[in-house]
Order: sequence, then C-alpha cells, then structure tokens
Amino acid sequence: MKRTHNCSELRESNSGETVQLSGWVDSVRDHGGILFVDLRDREGLTQVVLDPLNEPLKALFPKIKPESVLSVSGVVKDRVGDTVNQQLETGSIEVHAENILIHNVSKTPPFPMDDSADKVSEELRMTYRYLDLRRRSNLKILRLRHKTSQSIRNYLDTVGFTEVETPMLFKSTPEGAREFLVPSRMNPGSFYALPQSPQQYKQMLMVAGLEKYYQLARCFRDEDLRADRQPEFTQLDIELSFIDREDMYALIEGLMAQIWKEVLDVTIETPFLRLSYFEAMNRFGVDKPDMRFGVELMDCNEIFKDSTFKVFSGAIQSGGSVKAINAKGLADVTQGELRKLEDSAKALGAKGLAFIKAEKGEWKSPILKFLSEAEQAALKDQLQVEDGDIIFFAATEWEKACAILGRVRLDVAELQVSRGLLNLDPNDYKFLWVIEFPLMLFDEDAGRYTSSHHPFTAPVQEDIEFLKTEPLKVRGQHYDLVLNGVELGGGSIRIHQPDLQKQVFEEVLNIEPEIVEDRFGYMLKAFEYGAPPHGGIAFGLDRMVTLLAGRQSIRDVIAFPKNQKGQEMMTQSPGVVSAKQLKDLSISVVEDSAD
Ligand code: AMO
Ligand code: AMP
Repeated sequence: MKRTHNCSELRESNSGETVQLSGWVDSVRDHGGILFVDLRDREGLTQVVLDPLNEPLKALFPKIKPESVLSVSGVVKDRVGDTVNQQLETGSIEVHAENILIHNVSKTPPFPMDDSADKVSEELRMTYRYLDLRRRSNLKILRLRHKTSQSIRNYLDTVGFTEVETPMLFKSTPEGAREFLVPSRMNPGSFYALPQSPQQYKQMLMVAGLEKYYQLARCFRDEDLRADRQPEFTQLDIELSFIDREDMYALIEGLMAQIWKEVLDVTIETPFLRLSYFEAMNRFGVDKPDMRFGVELMDCNEIFKDSTFKVFSGAIQSGGSVKAINAKGLADVTQGELRKLEDSAKALGAKGLAFIKAEKGEWKSPILKFLSEAEQAALKDQLQVEDGDIIFFAATEWEKACAILGRVRLDVAELQVSRGLLNLDPNDYKFLWVIEFPLMLFDEDAGRYTSSHHPFTAPVQEDIEFLKTEPLKVRGQHYDLVLNGVELGGGSIRIHQPDLQKQVFEEVLNIEPEIVEDRFGYMLKAFEYGAPPHGGIAFGLDRMVTLLAGRQSIRDVIAFPKNQKGQEMMTQSPGVVSAKQLKDLSISVVEDSAD
C-alpha cells in the first residue's frame, strides 16, 4: 500500500477520492462498534472511520491501539454538521477505511504522546527518547533545527564560504576546558583528544589560503553540565582572511537577519547594539546582558565615599565600589524571596545583601540607622526611588559587586515577571555585541595570567606595548554575540605574526618554551610561511536553536542529549568495556583510591 497523501493534506476538494495514508494511531474512540481512529504522521492528523460491518477490518480491531503503525486505504468523505472539527486542518473530511495493513502493534507507551508529557521526568523521557521525539512538538524542533542549518549554509554559500571538515581525533592542548581523551591503539600510551573547537585547524586553513571557511562542527568539552551546556555540542564555526572587526559584525548581522527571517519570519533590527565589556559589567553586572529590561546597576561611590557606614565607605576606600539596583515594585518581597536573593548574592561571594524598602511613605532597612539624611536623599534622587520599590546594594571590589548585582538583577526580573510587573517577551530578540574584553585575566589560584578567550586572540593594536608591563590593561580584539542574556557566540581577530604569538605563549601566559614547541610549534612555523591576517567566530548552534524554538534547555533541541551526569539514557552510554579491549589499548583501570 503506497501513501498518496500525508495526514494533514486532505480537504473537502478530495471528497470521493480513494486515498492511502500511513502513520501512527494517535487515538481510538469506539462509538457503538464503529472505530474512529486519528491517524498521525509527522505532518498532522486525519480521522479514519472503521466500520465493523467490514468483516476483515473488524478482525483487526483488537490490534488498533495507540501508537500502532498502520497503512489505510479508503474513500474521503465530507463530515457534516457538528462532526466537522474546526481545530483540525483536515477536520472537514474523514477517510472511510476499506483496507488496513498493520505494520506494528504498539505496547502502551510509558507516557502520553502529547504536550502533557512535558511534566514526565526527563530521565524517563530520555530513556524512551524515540517516543519523546515522536511527539509532534519535538519533531517540529528537529525540523526547525534543520531549517536553521539550511539557512546558515545557504547564506554562507552565497557569500563565498567553503565548508571543510576538520579532524575529530585531535591532540590535547593546554588552555580551555577539560578534554575527552581517546587512546591510540597503534601508539600505546598516546592519546588523541576530541576537539573543543576546530580553532587551530581553521586558522591553518587560512594559512592555506582558503580565505572563507565554515563548518557545522561537533565540539567536545568535559565540563560540568547545565541547561545551556552539553559535553558534545555543535558550533557554527567561521573563519575569514583579510577582515577586521567591522567586516565581521556586518557579516554576522546579515546572517542572523536571514536566519530569523527564514526560520521564524521575524525581521530583526540591524546593526546590533554594541557595549564594551566594561560597560556591560558596570551597567548590567554580566558580560551577556539581557537587554529586554532595564534595572540597571548604579554606582553609589560618590554618595558613600565618606559614609559612617563602614561596610560601604570601607569598600570604596580600599579601591572597591558600592553598586545598587532599584527593584521597582518589589517592596512586598516575602522573607523567602529575600533569602533566595541573598543566597544568589552569597553564591558569588557577597558577605550580605543590604537592602532598603520604600513602603507607605517610609524607608525600612536594617542599615537605615547607619545612613545620613543627605545620603538617603541622594540615593532617592539617583535611583529614583518611589513607594513600593526596594533597593539592593553590593559593596566590594568593582567586578565582584557588579557580578553580584548582575545576578540579583536577573532574580529581580524573574520576580517582577511573576508579579506581572514586567513582560519578558520571548519573541523580542535583543541582539548585542559585547566588545573590548580584556585580553588576559589573572588567575589568583594558579598565580598566573590566562587568556580571557583563547591565546590566539589579537590584542588591540595600540595596547600591544602593555603586553610586557601591564597585561591586564591590554584589550583583545574579541567580540561576543549575546541574545536575550545568552552568549550565542564569540570570536576574535587572531594573531598572525609568529613573534607576537610566541610572546603571548611564553612571556604573558608563561607556558614553558618546550611545551609551546610541542603543542603549538606547527602553528608558529605555519605563521612563518605567509599567514594572512584573519579572524573568526563560533556560535553555539544548539543555543541558537533553543532560542529560535523558544525553549529553556539545549537538551530540548538535541536529538539524543546527555543528562547532568554526561550519560545518554537510551543507549546507557558511557559503558564499561571488556578486559580484552582495554588490553588492546594498553590501558588499565585503577580502582578509585582513597585520595
Ligand atoms: P567559545 O569557547 O566561546 O569559542 O565557544 C563558542 C560558542 O559555543 C557555544 N558553547 C557551547 N554550547 C553548548 N555546550 C557547551 N558546552 C558549549 N561551550 C561553548 C557557546 C559559545 O559562545 N574557537 C572559539 C571561537 C572562535 O574564536 O572563533 C570558541 O570555541 O554558544
Ligand atoms: P552588618 O553590618 O555586617 O550586619 O551588615 C548590615 C547589612 O549589610 C546586612 O543586611 C548585610 O547583609 C549587608 N551587607 C554586609 N556586607 C555587605 C556588602 N559587602 N555589600 C552589601 N551588603 C552587605
């Protein structure tokens, strides 16, 4: 029996035609012996009517259970009067079955095949992921993901990019996330590492003269997992030669505009807003601010620099800051909510979270007694405090104070949304470039500088002179693309001069020359054979699709994702291997020792 139509295709105009449909039984209703079956395929539903007077059909009735797979041949008939289903595209017709072929009888599924299964535990859904995916909302996501990749490929092809595959079996490189290692049977004791990104290979493609490269590349990072992180994920990876940052912004803005248009039919505004890292931290307390709402961080150093409240003046005098936010309309926070906000702040190292409530014409706060009239008046003025507001403070080093309130700002927005004070429209797409990151960070624990992005990022030209003397002052030619509080992607203009790259490795990052030679020697050598100026960027495709699909977790947009413990529940990976396999790989597994 060959399919003639899909399950969302038939209309009144098909009335009288003999058709064949194939799909899954979505539901079965028995009306006095007549079976009404909703047959479902990836496109939609069609009602099929099975008459018990048709003896061969009737014999099959016991096998027609939800999720069984059938092919049906029958005649399309109009539905009349109130039997028309306005909710369904095919609701004005039904197919009166003449023959049925049952391909597979289904057991009762462990959860329903509709959106009510969203409430079922993720563990169970992932164990039966093939059923979870069969739900139409999930199949829709897989198709949306495909459409996104397709749109990306079309755009990049049109502007002259070549897709190149780079190795999955790479080698271990220092810097960056923890890696997955793969033992090499043919080289006992040696290991490949799965790539964290195709960074080094794509730079070599620029030296090769390809000029415009892209890849939808699988990347691997052995990190702690969260809603927006998977141990294996997909990057849209891009690299170009002879470009500067402005060229990159224009290229990517065009790409995003095309994706959003083709996938969602949404016109996004370009050019995108730009904020320096400093301004993003100072005003929003994070390097990936959600620009759909305000609640900006204020600097209160002027007000409190000579305050008798030592928590505040002390922080300023030791070089730090007093930052504050006005959480409009939240003076009625409950004790529980307040404690949660405090916990958020403390998780980022705050000693406390001082607050002032403005309620019924009065200010209330455990710290009010420490603040002078003049300080209160200045606060009221600067933060535009009105009745019903609550102000939160962080007093510590500038960066830490910003980060603390950046986190509180997000919690505040959530509370405002829950009270109907703020509408965070998921269809409001606020793209933002964050630029001018510091090239280096100082890792207090390790007592050395680390790259804030990666060691291949070029310093801003006029800052190069500070590389030797004040590395923290050097800005990198790095850019991140942020959308609604999510870091969608990041990249940079690269170093293409061997001497400068060597200086960054050895003098700034303090990597032993032998290690530099071992890990990056080929790269330094390549740069001595005509390396063009180049730069690139990589996007988290999973994160992009999550936003396009209006979902919360990247696990929702990956066909077979891993859970928090890095396991894929359906196939139960990872798993143990035989002693023979280990022996072939020259590997021995040691029991977890007491340390
Ligand atoms: P970066 O490390 O910033 O840059 O990664 C680029 C983008 O990849 C996504 N991403 C992830 N998505 C899901 N799960 C993860 N564990 C994960 N880690 C990262 C993010 C991120 O913005 N080679 C450079 C890019 C370049 O310089 O061209 C790189 O990998 O969306
Ligand atoms: P204390 O004088 O230490 O009891 O603190 C008074 C109030 O200020 C309490 O509500 C603390 O939670 C809060 N607090 C203490 N240290 C800080 C800080 N560094 N930044 C912001 N608030 C703080």
